[in-house]
Amino acid sequence: MKRQDGFPEDFVWGCSTSSYQIEGAASEDGRGPSIWDTFSHTPGKVVQGHTGDIACDSYHRWREDVALLKELNAGAYRFSVSWTRIQPDGKGKPNQKGLDYYSRLVDGLREAGIEPWLELFHWDLPQALEDAGGWRNRDTAFRFEEYARIMYKAIGDRVEHWTSMNEPWCAAFLGHLTGEHAPGLRDREKTSRAVHHLLLAHGLAARAYREGGFKGEYGLVINAAKPRPATLRPEDVEASERASIERTSLWLDPVFGRGYPELFMQHFGSQMPIEPGDMDIIAAPIDFIGVNYYNEDAVRAALLSEENPYGFEYVPTWQRKTEMGWDIEAQGLRRILMHIARNWPAKVLYVTENGAAFADAPSPDGVIRDYDRIEYLREHLAACRQVIADEVPLKGYFVWSLMDNFEWSFGYTRKFGLVSIDHITKARRPKLSFYYYRDAIAGFGL
Ligand code: FCB
Repeated sequence: MKRQDGFPEDFVWGCSTSSYQIEGAASEDGRGPSIWDTFSHTPGKVVQGHTGDIACDSYHRWREDVALLKELNAGAYRFSVSWTRIQPDGKGKPNQKGLDYYSRLVDGLREAGIEPWLELFHWDLPQALEDAGGWRNRDTAFRFEEYARIMYKAIGDRVEHWTSMNEPWCAAFLGHLTGEHAPGLRDREKTSRAVHHLLLAHGLAARAYREGGFKGEYGLVINAAKPRPATLRPEDVEASERASIERTSLWLDPVFGRGYPELFMQHFGSQMPIEPGDMDIIAAPIDFIGVNYYNEDAVRAALLSEENPYGFEYVPTWQRKTEMGWDIEAQGLRRILMHIARNWPAKVLYVTENGAAFADAPSPDGVIRDYDRIEYLREHLAACRQVIADEVPLKGYFVWSLMDNFEWSFGYTRKFGLVSIDHITKARRPKLSFYYYRDAIAGFGL
């Protein structure tokens, strides 16, 4: 039967998770510590001192996760590899037990008819590399390439969708400027160094994938954002362009061979440790851009200054908010996808994360009636359908997340899952949004 909901037959319907947020088994089978182990164990960094030590225990319960994905009829599962399971100190000989875990997971997914979408890095940098300077240190990019090659060799024959890394903006800016994320630094120059080395790592890994002769699709995932202008006055429209530089052009310009955005270079160029040849490596050809979208802000023009190098300020908005305090604005998803499609020659786009945190209290009968999340997903899927009709090359959509998990500095206090986790027994329980998404995947309209 053909689907009648306006989505292409070959649209990819998936769910996303990441290693540190779900796996647990933090020191099992030779896994080494990552910066998120260190950060979450540092008092005051994560709400209520939560850690990913046990998380959703997916390291042991991955079969249950695969069964849930199968029940959803998901076409794809985007997960990330914990670098320190593969290389406990970020370099040298791979740890076979770590490789075996991902190999089993990949085989299990494929047997269930689910395409594995493997992501190499979702922020959990080996602590040993951090001790040597982390992303401020150029060598980390080369260590990343080495790790990527290990993964290509081990499962490159069974995984056809690869991404180098997730949201390098967060790794650079939240990790090195605001200190909200590991490694918790607050320094502008360190942030600029991290930006460049993250991109260099991406380019080296993408190039190595091509050199290996692998045939799959290769991409980069960013949390692109372009705040809307508060008014259509030219100065606010220009401020909105400038406000999107660090979240969008800073990544897409170099990846598409255009170098770093001029305004960024004017202010931070002297701190960018660019060496001859780097920009060519960063521009290694890729097949797709993954866009993670949750919300959209609004801005107006402000005076350009040393403290406000992009000359904009946020303005109040009217939208309803999720538990993260993020505005719910599905048209923002349409706008950011259009913005990317118009300005960069990305062949294919995927929404690699979209979802919402809500309080999700179970009813007395134990059922979690998360109608807020259903509404959120419905509106955002409708926005996807709209941009496809407008000829944006959007080929798939992944919900964040399959299950409630460790939400970084918010610990387990923010729930994004289609499935809830009992944090004592680790039992999985689908919420109503799980069944909503199953029906949407099946093609029964939104
Ligand atoms: C994204 C992250 C993901 C999750 C969601 C809510 O920025 O990639 O791990 O935390 O936000």
